[in-house]
Amino acid sequence: MYEKEPHEKTAEMIQYEEETGRLSVWKGAETEHFFKWQKNKEREESKKEKLAPLREAKNRRKELKKVRKDEKDVERDYEHLIVVEKLHKTYLLGTTAVAALRGVDLTIDKGDFIDIMGPSGSGKTTLLNLIGGLDTPTRGKIYLEGENISTLSDNELANIRKERIGFVFQFYNLLPQMTGIENIMVPMHFSGKLSRRGKQKRAMDLLRLVGLEERGHHTPSELSGGEQQRIAIARAFANDPAICVLDEPTGDLDSKTGVMILNLLRDLNKRGATFVAVSHDATVSEFASRVFHMRDGKLTHEGKVGGLKETELMQLTRKKEGEINKEKCKSKIFKFLFSNQGRMEIPLMEIKNSIPQDILENIPENFDDILHELILKNNIKGEITGDRLILK
Ligand SMILES: Nc1ncnc2c1ncn2[C@@H]1O[C@H](COP(=O)(O)OP(=O)(O)OP(=O)(O)O)[C@@H](O)[C@H]1O
Ligand SMILES: [Mg+2]
Repeated sequence: MYEKEPHEKTAEMIQYEEETGRLSVWKGAETEHFFKWQKNKEREESKKEKLAPLREAKNRRKELKKVRKDEKDVERDYEHLIVVEKLHKTYLLGTTAVAALRGVDLTIDKGDFIDIMGPSGSGKTTLLNLIGGLDTPTRGKIYLEGENISTLSDNELANIRKERIGFVFQFYNLLPQMTGIENIMVPMHFSGKLSRRGKQKRAMDLLRLVGLEERGHHTPSELSGGEQQRIAIARAFANDPAICVLDEPTGDLDSKTGVMILNLLRDLNKRGATFVAVSHDATVSEFASRVFHMRDGKLTHEGKVGGLKETELMQLTRKKEGEINKEKCKSKIFKFLFSNQGRMEIPLMEIKNSIPQDILENIPENFDDILHELILKNNIKGEITGDRLILK
């Protein structure tokens, strides 16, 4: 009988035998099972090969998306907390139109303590109510943390008020049947984020912050005006708002108590709280970092007073203007690359043209360096060659 040559085992055969515990060769010939295994493996390999570029593209998309999100967060962090643009508010009284605001522009940054002064009827409360989402403008826009809140529905505005705005009014507006600490907890109930215990702990912390830990179990009628206003301030901070708006916060207090409240506001401001107050009381302006005057529905003058020094955050924001533009520039590059996925070669000019001129004019380094840094830091597979970005 014909005898086959003894088989030299290939690496694949050895792998098969190790994997399956079977012999790859039986009586001088490869076994049926080994063939099947081999075919299966080939099929899997080719599938893997086909899927590899798809998987890689998917990963890249994911990566870009993540980086883009991070960049966006950075950009949003640097933007103004509130931007008020060409704001108009006209009330209708029967057939008479009362123009309470007539084109107000204002920007508010984190850490600001703004005071708006002005005669009765000049539109201060109207402006504050619009900033606080208590009412909507007739015309113009209000952006809060980058979101246009001037066109939101009542329900959406209620959410903004609940989550992002703290309110302090001239007459405290505390619920008379509740104790101080219960009043502070009211906004926490509405936001529903904390457990019962969490709410109590936070309310106690806030009471301590306003120096009233001993008086929290009294109802408003058992508290002085200044103490009620302290409770109201603590309540305004219940849900850790982005901004606290105050309408005549010292209007109902004697001047000494008023100054105590202003001192408290200044302390909170130094710890990072942002305030916008309207007042008749000139003392408020001594504690504020920026002062505006309102007359006939218009903001007429901005002044800075010596009372409060620029907060650290404000200084940082100012110094970082160049850096801000750099981050904005990077974010725009990302947006461009994201919407040009799949291209292998992109002229630098094309990327540059996608960035607004006012950003390009105020970047601390040249554009190519920023692009280079962005590619390096984010592991983008590409390099700048001459006047082109080559993507791999
Ligand atoms: N709900 C309303 N309906 C009609 N007119 C209104 C309404 N609210 C305010 N106004 C009018 O709009 C103008 C601005 O009022 P606003 O309350 O904003 O003034 P203000 O500066 O806060 O005054 P004050 O210092 O007296 O509180 C006033 O002429 C006022 O009469
Ligand atoms: Mg008012």
